[in-house]
Amino acid sequence: MPGDSMDKPNTVTCTAPVNIAVIKYWGKRNEELILPINSSLSVTLHQDQLKTTTTVATSRSFQEDRIWLNGKEEDITHPRLQSCLREIRRLARKRRNDGDPALDSMGFSHKVHICSINDFPTAAGLASSAAGFACLVYTLSRVFDVEGELSGIARQGSGSACRSMYGGFVQWIMGQKDDGKDSLAQQVAPETHWPELRVLVLVVSFAERKPVGSTSGMQTSVQTSRLLKHRAESVVPGRMVKMIEAVQRKDFTAFAELTMKDSNQFHATCLDTYPPIFYLSSVSQQVINLVHRYNRHYGETRVAYTFDAGPNAVIYMLQQHVPEFVQAVQHFFPPESNGGQFVKGLPVNHVALSEEL
Ligand code: DP6
Repeated sequence: MPGDSMDKPNTVTCTAPVNIAVIKYWGKRNEELILPINSSLSVTLHQDQLKTTTTVATSRSFQEDRIWLNGKEEDITHPRLQSCLREIRRLARKRRNDGDPALDSMGFSHKVHICSINDFPTAAGLASSAAGFACLVYTLSRVFDVEGELSGIARQGSGSACRSMYGGFVQWIMGQKDDGKDSLAQQVAPETHWPELRVLVLVVSFAERKPVGSTSGMQTSVQTSRLLKHRAESVVPGRMVKMIEAVQRKDFTAFAELTMKDSNQFHATCLDTYPPIFYLSSVSQQVINLVHRYNRHYGETRVAYTFDAGPNAVIYMLQQHVPEFVQAVQHFFPPESNGGQFVKGLPVNHVALSEEL
């Protein structure tokens, strides 16, 4: 029970999955509140393989807030962590002030110890901050017994995190207000909507850190890329409408083509940034070519790629085509060439590719 003894920590553990955008978020109009220049849409992955697990403990005896990420203590004064902690405590305080007696023993003013673990490479373009902040905000909300719309708080940790607050197909509506109150995530369709849809992660690099992080990369893009401005104002609004329709109709061809075009345009804006940002490696480019060759071979769009701020490919396809496409990947990127790292499992698959190929 929360707060049932003076010194015994109240502990809650939760997990949150990664989400992979098919219409990308890139660029902020407000850095502090994390308000984007365009709406975006993603698929929240199954929790089996790519997730963050966070434990939060509160106790009257804790002297200060502290956080450990993957076993290493990190700086709790980071402004984004502080935003999330502040907002959750504000909601908890509001609930108590609104007269919920259950909150008297909740200890919302107690300090927290946070321990968070990712089961995938941190900051290698696999949306670790999205799962991380979504998990943090959700776990804090359980500890402090706060309910309601929490995606606006997760957004202040990392923009893409707001989309991991929901399962299935999720849009992040950019909103119009200066205070960000209408910049929230919303589920477009639940996880049960399209059960045949599969994701395959082709791990091109296990590097721990990407050369240019998303936050600073998108800042430079906003400052220097006219293509990004054009994309945000004139391309993404139409794509959002089409993508929502494609998801609702379960139209894989439309979904796949929009996904690939949007990934390509995002990386084009990275090249249009000055100095340019390169997230794709030569292996990533080989994956792109393989997907187009594969689709051409079958005369239909069976497979789609998308890349975030890193070289790893995320492949969307329907279940019926998984074995064959995995075979094609193994043929062109044989496992023995990368130390036999070949991990497979559904509904999220990982296939490790060699950087050297
Ligand atoms: C390429 O959400 O990591 O993955 O808001 O600065 O924390 P911050 O950025 P972040 O950016 C994600 C960018 C992306 C595209 C996407 O997920 O939509």
